[in-house]
Amino acid sequence: MTGADDSRGGGNGAVTRRGFLSGAATSAAALPFTAGAVSELGADSKSAPRADTREAQTVTLRVNNQAHTLNFDSRTTLLDALRDHVGLTGTKKGCGHGQCGACTVHADGERVLSCLTFALMAEGREITTIEGLSGPEGKLHPMQQAFIDQDAFQCGYCTPGQIMSAIACVREGHAESAADIREYMSGNLCRCAAYPNIVAAIEQANNRVKGS
Ligand code: FES
Ligand code: FES
Repeated sequence: MTGADDSRGGGNGAVTRRGFLSGAATSAAALPFTAGAVSELGADSKSAPRADTREAQTVTLRVNNQAHTLNFDSRTTLLDALRDHVGLTGTKKGCGHGQCGACTVHADGERVLSCLTFALMAEGREITTIEGLSGPEGKLHPMQQAFIDQDAFQCGYCTPGQIMSAIACVREGHAESAADIREYMSGNLCRCAAYPNIVAAIEQANNRVKGS
């Protein structure tokens, strides 16, 4: 669980930095040019102006079983949309570029790094954040309870991302040994070094999360 892992845990829904950069390049190619870019190219300068990608887009995101219709710049990350537009600040910004795992959320049950995901790409997917884990009466999710029981945090800044990643780690079948847990949680860094307690918490919650 130490060191930034380029593969971010290896689950089906894991976002790799290489994959993101490749996807971003493809997306950038597909996006219309900005007015500035068109005039620089010269050849297209007389064609009709295209939409400016900085203009606000209206997007409906489903977060924790609620629909939110929002307006934001198309370059907005899912992380910033959640924190600044939906008002859910439980998801944390650590590095902002795919190295720490603090921003981990679920999209259709798969873990994704919200700092590397454009909010537009999340339309039509069910997003779950740390705020969406507890039951209607406020009962904690078994993984949240296990983190408390095992003292699996100190400052708590990495904890929302650790918990979201830990749930996916169990669901993906990678919590059968401490070594496996460490490998599949390696994209989530903890500056307080609570790693042994995090592994213990995942071991505690393993059977209950598998059945949920
Ligand atoms: S804030 Fe997303 S990986 Fe660090
Ligand atoms: S508990 Fe402080 S960074 Fe993990």
